[in-house]
Amino acid sequence: MKPRKGIILAGGSGTRLRPLTLAVSKQLLPVYDKPMIYYPLTTLMLAGIRDILIITTAEDQAAFQRLLGDGSQWGLNLSYAVQDQPDGVARAFVIGADFLRGHPACLILGDNILYGHGIQQAVQDLDGKKGATVFGYHVDEPEQYGVVQFDKGGKVVSIEEKPRKPKSSWAVIGLYFYDDTVLDRVGEVKPSKRGEYEITDLNNLYLRDGQLRVERLGRGFAWFDTGSCHSLLEASSFVRALQARQGQLVASPEEIAYHNRWITIDDLEKAGRRLAKTEYGKALLERARLNGSA
Ligand code: G1P
Repeated sequence: MKPRKGIILAGGSGTRLRPLTLAVSKQLLPVYDKPMIYYPLTTLMLAGIRDILIITTAEDQAAFQRLLGDGSQWGLNLSYAVQDQPDGVARAFVIGADFLRGHPACLILGDNILYGHGIQQAVQDLDGKKGATVFGYHVDEPEQYGVVQFDKGGKVVSIEEKPRKPKSSWAVIGLYFYDDTVLDRVGEVKPSKRGEYEITDLNNLYLRDGQLRVERLGRGFAWFDTGSCHSLLEASSFVRALQARQGQLVASPEEIAYHNRWITIDDLEKAGRRLAKTEYGKALLERARLNGSA
């Protein structure tokens, strides 16, 4: 099978975060010490994905390019595309069709932050698997999300998008793995009542064909969807607490690229020196020193 390619969907107008998002894209806002998009980007990197398409609004594209460039500084190959209107998550596969053709795909929403022991293993284990895999996470307010209904034996019965009366507390997080049939299936998705091409409908097409796996993430995982001011602050506090306590960076592209052997220790050290006035840069330098740089 060809290598899996990644898509980060970072469009949308961030209406629930205004006025923060009037001049700046939501996915560029800080989550503690990094721009939000570093978190989904590094989740893809942990999954071993190097070819990544970043979908943004037309007006924000230049800012993302300034921040991330072509990705070669982290051993990545980044390309960019535009979503003209917020017409749904499943549209990512129409916009990204030429980029993806013939490859299995992983889509991550640009405002989803995922952290937990074993996430790397969980996503790498999907290599070569047919069908689709999504992840369920137990939440307090499932009606804001895609919600999974299970039968008594734990088998998935349905996924409903933002149901008024959720049939479980298991939300589908914004990280989706699809095999190379995704482009054939996405054409079947029709706009929903709210006028969007729903990712939930795409997942239900896989479910109809007996090709959908839902992995339930346990209590040891943290998932934040930074859609509101309070969840943005919660995510920042979480990252700050972890980094301060463990003395390790969360979601550093430099560190993960080095760990994956996509950049050298010299690259890591140089990146640290460029950011040396910050705690982030100092942490990179420390990592380089511990791994034996000069
Ligand atoms: C989207 C999906 C929803 C999913 C959520 C995860 O919702 O439609 O199924 O649970 O992302 O963040 P949206 O953020 O577009 O409201």
